Amino acid sequence: MAQRQLVIEPVRRVQGTLDVPGDKSIAHRYAMLAAISAGTSEIAHLAPGADVATTLACMQALGASIQPRGPLAVRITGCGARGLSAPAAPLDAGNSGTTMRLLAGIVASYPFRTVMTGDESLSRRPMTRVIEPLTAMGATIQSTNGRAPLDIHGARLRGITWHPPVASAQIKSAVLLAGLRAQGTTAVEEDLPTRDHTERALPAFGIDISVSGRRASLAGGQVPTAPAGVLTVPGDPSSAAVWAAAAAALPGSSVRLEGVGLNPLRLGFLRALEHLGARVTIEQTGEMAGEPIGAIEVAHGDRGAAVIAAPDVPSLIDELPVLAACAALGGRLDVSGAAELRVKESDRITALVSGLRALGVEADERPDGFVVAGTRRPRGGTVDAVGDHRLVMAFALVGLGASAPTVVRGAEAVAVSYPGFEADLAGLVA
Ligand code: S3P
Repeated sequence: MAQRQLVIEPVRRVQGTLDVPGDKSIAHRYAMLAAISAGTSEIAHLAPGADVATTLACMQALGASIQPRGPLAVRITGCGARGLSAPAAPLDAGNSGTTMRLLAGIVASYPFRTVMTGDESLSRRPMTRVIEPLTAMGATIQSTNGRAPLDIHGARLRGITWHPPVASAQIKSAVLLAGLRAQGTTAVEEDLPTRDHTERALPAFGIDISVSGRRASLAGGQVPTAPAGVLTVPGDPSSAAVWAAAAAALPGSSVRLEGVGLNPLRLGFLRALEHLGARVTIEQTGEMAGEPIGAIEVAHGDRGAAVIAAPDVPSLIDELPVLAACAALGGRLDVSGAAELRVKESDRITALVSGLRALGVEADERPDGFVVAGTRRPRGGTVDAVGDHRLVMAFALVGLGASAPTVVRGAEAVAVSYPGFEADLAGLVA
């Protein structure tokens, strides 16, 4: 991807109403489930970024038929009981951890070989967390010290009960998806609850899954079936969080974000914004395939302080960069128990803290988190997003409240999850 920089001019406030783009997490799951289902699924309001396009291309390479049905809508005819077919070439998961980890679970249950590769960032990320359970189920997986490329020899798997060593919806989902074709029951027991989009999506595709407290289990030998009607992906709370954080940070701001997924396991950022002083209103307007949908309104309030510890982290893990940006504009944020941030698309602790400092914000690293002590108007300047989409948006947000323009280097990465970011920003500052 060609390097691009984003120049952010300071603004007084953000204001307006926005429909946020489709949820990346949910779109991956619908695309994968549709591709292994019997029948034809219609999916609308797909997440627009490169990550979901990557999943669609991988599912096509595994034998699903995918036809575009207009912008961000697809018709997927799945392989059903016939099963996926061996890919002719390695599957490229690009920058997408969800693609690599969830799809590893699916292909591990097919009796063929799949090689999965990723870009430089994804090739640095830990894959042992999915290699271990899938190996325990009977697959053979070679890697380079637990990292991609993964060379997966699928097999007839056995059900297991797995306790993920870290709180991760990707591990949980990889194991449950592998369990669909395993012998016996597959269960995942979590210490901390993580996003449950897989557990909510599976019944929409006719799968019987039982969820009790922090245990999810399913019987093997179930073939998903295409849902009747169109599956509409809810708006992405992680994209909504950018504007919510901007409104919280800038005096006089208020935004209304519509059509947003309101899954409670994704909304931890709203509680944190309230602690940072924002006024937040949530209004549920509907539900789609077990996912609540509605509007979120956020307005600026007196600046405050938020403390985030391990139990809070899974519900706001992807939003910590924009929460840090909000705090950088006059609040205080204290994060611990978030060592997982170091193995995201970048080391988000080091890159975030050094980027904030480059913009004149007081910030400090911890082994498992960071502390930000903001001032009302940081000085702005030039900052490197190190190829991480969430850092592009976080640094842009700091720039909105800075006293001089901010240049965000590596801004092309925003296309991973939010290619319309700049256009939506222009709409809210107009
Ligand atoms: C995701 C789970 C989280 C999240 C990622 C998407 C998912 O990752 O950070 O952006 O779609 O399941 P982990 O499972 O590694 O925590």
